[in-house]
Amino acid sequence: MEQLLQQIEDIKKEITDAEAANAAALEEFRIKYLGTKGLVKQIMGEMKNVPNEQKKEFGQILNAFKIVAEEKFAALQAGLGDSAEAETGMDFSLPGDPTPVGTRHPLNLVRNQMVSIFKRLGFAVAEGPEIEDDWHNFGAMNLPEDHPARDMQDTFYVEEKTADHSAWLLRTHTSSTQARVMESQKPPIRVICPGRVYRNETISARAHCFFHQVEGLYIDENVSFADLKQTLYFFVQEMFGKEVKVRFRPSYFPFTEPSAEMDISCQICAGKGCNICKHTGWVEILGSGMVHPKVLENFGIDPEKYTGFAFGMGVERIAQLKYQVNDLRLYSQNDVRFLQQFKSV
Ligand code: PHE
Repeated sequence: MEQLLQQIEDIKKEITDAEAANAAALEEFRIKYLGTKGLVKQIMGEMKNVPNEQKKEFGQILNAFKIVAEEKFAALQAGLGDSAEAETGMDFSLPGDPTPVGTRHPLNLVRNQMVSIFKRLGFAVAEGPEIEDDWHNFGAMNLPEDHPARDMQDTFYVEEKTADHSAWLLRTHTSSTQARVMESQKPPIRVICPGRVYRNETISARAHCFFHQVEGLYIDENVSFADLKQTLYFFVQEMFGKEVKVRFRPSYFPFTEPSAEMDISCQICAGKGCNICKHTGWVEILGSGMVHPKVLENFGIDPEKYTGFAFGMGVERIAQLKYQVNDLRLYSQNDVRFLQQFKSV
């Protein structure tokens, strides 16, 4: 008798501590304690060995024991609720098969970042065709046909000049998009023109026959060279951090006057001198200048009333300084080992 009571107490404790994480565990509990061959039934079977005068008292103990098991079962069942896991008996917390997720192309990451910085300054994005006519790429930009500066940009011609239209070519800069904006909009104009451009260069680590630019144009009354400097200084600080230094060098572009190239302190060696900055501590990142009055006139914009600045830079160059990629060819070889190293910024 003593032994039996102890056994009941032990099983009760086991039942109280029992847990069921899913439907399968719950069913296991039911079979073990409440099933036809379960422990509750087995203990009930002991009734016949209990002396008559103790049968009443023992019956009550047994009943209470059975109720403990049943209530625990109900509680475990309620705990599982009607979740998918309880219904199916599957463990949904197990990790799934990994799904490979692609990454953005480094040039897109950098381009997006560049665009978002200029957008915050109020620049709108303008896009134009990659196959252009001579006028939008060159003529309107103050590069008449015999202009020697055309040699600065070795051009891919799609079709030679014919009687009914001037030559078609692959745009050599996105200034052609700026031309299209000036053609269709009145000042104030504040746009950036991201896009792919083409030049007939032999492919090497340092040159490619296509690359990407972000050019900008701002035309309004009283736009000055100080505005140009501050805009570009803000841009590089946002892109590379507040520590970056800038310097402007006089330069020449047919469509701007005066013109300047902007250098920044080398982001690779922090000015100490390395291969990228050719041991000068400075790297050139863009061309810029005040829009030439002839260009404004070409689009019927009065140069007496309006002034503007323009700039153009290569996305590959910015990406090179940001990610230390030293071979331009990597950007277009589609090698996944290269591409998957770039996570969103
Ligand atoms: N279009 C020039 C280039 O492709 C860059 C530039 C743009 C320079 C605007 C000055 C002003 O090299």
